[in-house]
Amino acid sequence: MGRLEGKVAIITGASQGMGEAHAKAFVAEGAKVILTDVNDTAGTKLADSLGENAIFVKQDVADAAQWADVLAKAEAKFGTVTVLVNNAGIIGKIAPTTELAQADFQTVCDINQLGVFLGMQAVLPGMIRAGGGSIVNISSIAGMVAVYGSPNLAYVASKFAVRGMTKQVAIEYGPNNVRCNSVHPGYIRTPMMAAATDEEGGEALSMIPLKRLADPSEVSNLVMFLASDESSFITGMEHVIDGGMTAA
Ligand SMILES: NC(=O)c1ccc[n+]([C@@H]2O[C@H](COP(=O)([O-])OP(=O)(O)OC[C@H]3O[C@@H](n4cnc5c(N)ncnc54)[C@H](O)[C@@H]3O)[C@@H](O)[C@H]2O)c1
Repeated sequence: MGRLEGKVAIITGASQGMGEAHAKAFVAEGAKVILTDVNDTAGTKLADSLGENAIFVKQDVADAAQWADVLAKAEAKFGTVTVLVNNAGIIGKIAPTTELAQADFQTVCDINQLGVFLGMQAVLPGMIRAGGGSIVNISSIAGMVAVYGSPNLAYVASKFAVRGMTKQVAIEYGPNNVRCNSVHPGYIRTPMMAAATDEEGGEALSMIPLKRLADPSEVSNLVMFLASDESSFITGMEHVIDGGMTAA
């Protein structure tokens, strides 16, 4: 029996990078998965390749109406959603704080922060009716500490916000057996990382004790653990996966 047998999971930002890795791992462990993303070409292709336990729904996570559509399609196909992985995110415009336009700040917060709120608000009623669920919010080490070379202040602000919202939902809905945890990756080899630094991690490598970047599947192992009943007494906590980078 798979580790996620019986779970119905929404994974946002699932067309590439870590979301893609999570979707593959979740289906392999028995979950029924709704992949969502603004990139429908890659997302549809990926969902098709994963077989009958996966569907793709095009979605901008910052749009509340689109969350309602995702929920309706998920429930019609697989039943009540019991796992949400809020993974979609952007780094936004790379700029020092004095040069960051308000519109650029807002765009990052709309996707990375508002999108996480809307996702949790959308799935909570069903999880409560079902007697429980697990929400995994993808933050960053930039939600734990300020990071030298961070793309911009908005990214850090939004990732700290994800950490706080996670704790609030954990205490509000713990009595309903809904767990909510945040994951804080360091440097993971994805298209986002490749856009922000060079292939091997550039100068960041000297700050990573394990002296390498991570494969997205290494983060999937943690996300699966938090989504599954293996983590049944873990909620409201930060889970850092960074090769030791923030240990110092
Ligand atoms: N790669 C890293 O090193 C790293 C480190 C820390 C945290 N993270 C976080 O992990 C998550 C996944 O990152 P990744 O590296 O796989 O990124 P990625 O850019 O490779 O993939 C992100 C996906 O999200 C989608 N997306 C963007 N805006 C969206 C929106 N409005 N609605 C729906 N989907 C949208 C993109 O189309 C893309 O498919 C992000 O939240 C990111 O901030 C990444």
